[in-house]
Amino acid sequence: MFQLSPEGLGQVKKELARYETKESAIIPSLYVAQKENKGWINEDVIRHLSQVMEIPESRINEVFKFYTMFNQKPVGRHHVQICSTLSCHINGAPELTAHICKELKVGMDQVTEDGRFTVSRAECLGSCGTAPMMQVNDKYYENLTPESAMNILRGLK
Ligand code: FES
Repeated sequence: MFQLSPEGLGQVKKELARYETKESAIIPSLYVAQKENKGWINEDVIRHLSQVMEIPESRINEVFKFYTMFNQKPVGRHHVQICSTLSCHINGAPELTAHICKELKVGMDQVTEDGRFTVSRAECLGSCGTAPMMQVNDKYYENLTPESAMNILRGLK
């Protein structure tokens, strides 16, 4: 059964107090919960948030399913999201993605055997002028080549 840590619970309560409507606290609270649940959200997490926030599970689920930054499946410690929108696409994102998956020996949206990585496609991440780019957890890496991207990933524990 998922339960927020005392710190996580404190953060959610703070978010609830910050806004006029409780619904506005759903996105930041999902972030807190996702971080505490190894990077993804499941029914247990939704149930717990619903109890803590006193918001129906269905309402939290709607928000959770709408936003792609919330993961519906387990992910590796490093979630590699490669932008696949136009600028990145024409500047080599498909080759970049294929190379990373091959080197890490993993399919899209799967977790590597050692639990370190998940590779996913993302919609425009806002760095179109420095395409192609990827986001790894909270960090952004731009102007990538297949080799430079793999050098970055090899450096992550
Ligand atoms: Fe990739 Fe915008 S198209 S960051």
